[in-house]
Amino acid sequence: MSTPYQPPQAPQNLPLNKPWALFGGLSPAQFMRAHWHKKPLLVRGAIPAFRLSAEQGIPLASPISYAELVAFANQEELESRLIRSKPWRFDHGPFLSKSIPKADKPEWTLLLQGMEAHHPAAAKILSWFRFIPDARLDDLMISIAGIGGGVGAHFDSYDVFLIQMSGRRQWRISEQKDLSLNPNLPLKILQNFECEHEWVLEPGDMLYLPPHVAHDGIALDAGCQTWSVGFRSPSYKELLQEGLWRLAESLEAIPELERKFADPKQMATAHAEQLPQELIDQLQAQLEKLKLHQIDGFLPGISAYLSEPKQQAFFDGPKNPLKPAAFLRRLGTSPLLAHPQTRILSLKKQVFCNGEDMTLKQRPEIIRVWASLAAHKKYQGGGLTKVEGTSLYEAYLAGWLVFG
Ligand code: SIN
Ligand code: CO
Repeated sequence: MSTPYQPPQAPQNLPLNKPWALFGGLSPAQFMRAHWHKKPLLVRGAIPAFRLSAEQGIPLASPISYAELVAFANQEELESRLIRSKPWRFDHGPFLSKSIPKADKPEWTLLLQGMEAHHPAAAKILSWFRFIPDARLDDLMISIAGIGGGVGAHFDSYDVFLIQMSGRRQWRISEQKDLSLNPNLPLKILQNFECEHEWVLEPGDMLYLPPHVAHDGIALDAGCQTWSVGFRSPSYKELLQEGLWRLAESLEAIPELERKFADPKQMATAHAEQLPQELIDQLQAQLEKLKLHQIDGFLPGISAYLSEPKQQAFFDGPKNPLKPAAFLRRLGTSPLLAHPQTRILSLKKQVFCNGEDMTLKQRPEIIRVWASLAAHKKYQGGGLTKVEGTSLYEAYLAGWLVFG
């Protein structure tokens, strides 16, 4: 007999300087100083409920069953992958239930990305990690595997917390320098993996790995589940490119730049093939005026980019949307929540949601609501006077915000 584990929602104000079982007695502040983006951490009993329940003879099961995960793999809006070892084979979902091996079959793994948007237990576990900036968060991935299942020895460019949620998994890791991949396989698998540490994780244990630590996890039990909380780090190139092209787009809003280049001072030249100095000088002056090298001009674009939802994100507006007056009344009685696939980031007082600046040309009372949505993913309370034509009401109509 077993009962599904029900993870608690983290409190709004996380105790950043208190010891947490999740980090083996380290506080989030200590964890960040000593381990984050630096060195691995193995935590036995990171979720103590698993051990406590097992001791009482009622072992905890994963919050999500094999059958439910198989059903999720069938969904279009969820990124799923099926990996078989011996020989290595790799397929993208969606999958019909019958094409996923039964839990008691060996050597397969099903990976489901972005599960925080699809199951409240996954969203709750993610809430424990909200002492790490939202801009760094990628998603919560769930893997389920048959005995011997795994994705092979590899490395990620992600910080990842691997939480063992069902069955046991053997993890072998290495901080080796040689990260060359085997060119003959359909998956990114290391050519020469040399294990330095090896552990068997039981349900409730957790392994944190910074980027580029080689690792290989092999399921030791049928239906082994590992929940990975992953944090992305975009390359500097990606950040700069995304910032620069948004900056380029923002020039649309400066009518003055529509003016045509004028060169009444151009003199007769013997080097007609050369780019005219007059054009170079004028452009230089324009660039200086735009202050393109200053970070302030750059950050709104970066914030917009990092607040973009996942590619698979799908928003369905409300079937019977409330009219503005009814929306206002509803705000007084129900909390307004960010849809689980909605991403919100703040840049000082500016709030970006799903790639757009929601505070642009908005009244202070609307900006206050967005600030709450950014900080808590939730706004509770009435007090608004008008929502028609606001970014708040638009976001509700788009399905980015929903009533709880
Ligand atoms: C897994 O959960 O099977 C793989 C996770 C990882 O190694 O990144
Ligand atoms: Co990995």
